Amino acid sequence: MTHQHVLIVDFGSQVTQLIARRLRESGVYCEVHPYNRLGDGFLSRFAPKAVILSGGPSSVHWDNSPRAPEAIFALGVPILGICYGEQVICEQLGGAVQSSEEREFGRAEIKIIKDSPLFAGLAPFEAVWMSHGDRVESLPDGFDVIARSENAPYAAIADEARKIYAVQFHPEVVHTPCGARILRNFTHGIAGLSGDWTMAAFRAEEIAKIRAQVVKGKVICGLSGGVDSSVVAVLLHEAIGDQLTCVFVDTGLMRANEAEEVVSLFRDHYNIPLVHVDAGDEFLGKLEGVSDPEKKRKIIGGLFIDIFDREASAVGGADFLAQGTLYPDVIESVSFDGGPSVTIKSHHNVGGLPARMKMKLVEPLRELFKDEVRSLGRELGLNEQFVARHPFPGPGLAIRIPGEITPERVAILQKADAIYLDEIKKAGLYDDIWQAFAVLLPVRTVGVMGDERTYDYVLALRAVTSTDGMTADYYPFDHEVLGRMSTRIINEVRGINRVVYDVTSKPPGTIEWE
Ligand code: XMP
Repeated sequence: MTHQHVLIVDFGSQVTQLIARRLRESGVYCEVHPYNRLGDGFLSRFAPKAVILSGGPSSVHWDNSPRAPEAIFALGVPILGICYGEQVICEQLGGAVQSSEEREFGRAEIKIIKDSPLFAGLAPFEAVWMSHGDRVESLPDGFDVIARSENAPYAAIADEARKIYAVQFHPEVVHTPCGARILRNFTHGIAGLSGDWTMAAFRAEEIAKIRAQVVKGKVICGLSGGVDSSVVAVLLHEAIGDQLTCVFVDTGLMRANEAEEVVSLFRDHYNIPLVHVDAGDEFLGKLEGVSDPEKKRKIIGGLFIDIFDREASAVGGADFLAQGTLYPDVIESVSFDGGPSVTIKSHHNVGGLPARMKMKLVEPLRELFKDEVRSLGRELGLNEQFVARHPFPGPGLAIRIPGEITPERVAILQKADAIYLDEIKKAGLYDDIWQAFAVLLPVRTVGVMGDERTYDYVLALRAVTSTDGMTADYYPFDHEVLGRMSTRIINEVRGINRVVYDVTSKPPGTIEWE
């Protein structure tokens, strides 16, 4: 690895990913690895320049609760513990942690009581976001308290000689406004990293990696029309030219007009060979009568692979399948025992690949977050209309029709979704929203149109803001805009007589409904 890099040891906090995001934003390459997957020479191979120990839901007093491998403390590199990470540092280095039934949760104010490079540029008092149960009671040798809060006398501690730091609060969340500065102080100031992670460097390295992996082999790339697979296709085309064939599988579960738009962009603008497979009947046939969301995902993932295998034979045998798997997909599909980061959904491009697939995978975006993919797209000169597109999941409308999927339901949803997006664009809001889509509920309600009684489906509208899809807030539309969308959808789409707006954030909801 040519970049200076940081290891983030994951103890299962739901916000561990945000540590990675904040570091990447400041130009530092980092990877998140579960605490119990760091054996077999991993640490010496990975050779991090600094280590961050994440928060987590455990108590150090629980039987078999997670610990950092002792080897981490022997690396001699700067270490920062966050929340549970602070308790682990105290417990493992000879301090004491007090067990507590009460959790401190939410906003707090810290007072900086000792100068430390960790707090360079901060004010004497700073707002932070606390979320912890247990708390430190006595410090290991060599440590001093550098900040405290009303309820956390050890809000931040430091062993400046060994460059080991720990904070009880979460610097990675936006509710700690000085948090990005603290993390930057740690990586740039204390660990001396230069922030050498740029998209131009990534592009050049990734192209070299793809060429080294593929050599003279043939690659097929599943193109969905979303940003990720479009970026993969253009990157691969740059790396291996006509060894690449793109396959656009029309699952019959795409948004209205999507298939035509994608095909014309790639054939007309990029001149990249593109096979258009019309597989709507096949997908809808296999999904008939299936309501369970995980079953839907597995069926769709399996069919994609069958089709790619078929297309691979058609081009005379492809050796590789390229996919737009992103870093959050990789992490969300991995879980470790006892932690809360259980597999929430089988993202079909990671967990759902059947073992029988013959091709090897090329996944050049595996290390990137979504907004980094967009930067890479711009770096590659991809047109803004594609780069700025809202994400669209591989399983498509199948996971936006809870319950059974029928051609009739798909057609209703396509029409309603197109009107919804049209209104968002007309209101000039498309670029403020991370993702907006409609969900057709398997529920009928009574309405009245003209003098007639109606008994039709309910449509839910969803729009969220997010930076990476890992956490999200619902978008606060003006009521007037919502009213206009609802009126148009009910007037123009037969089969829908009621529209509701989803005001759930993630967590506790997910962005998609299934
Ligand atoms: P959730 O619903 O997990 O979604 O909050 C987070 C982001 O991931 C997208 N998503 C998928 N993308 N294949 C994909 O390519 C999938 O199986 C899949 N499931 C969810 C979702 O649209 C959102 O942007």
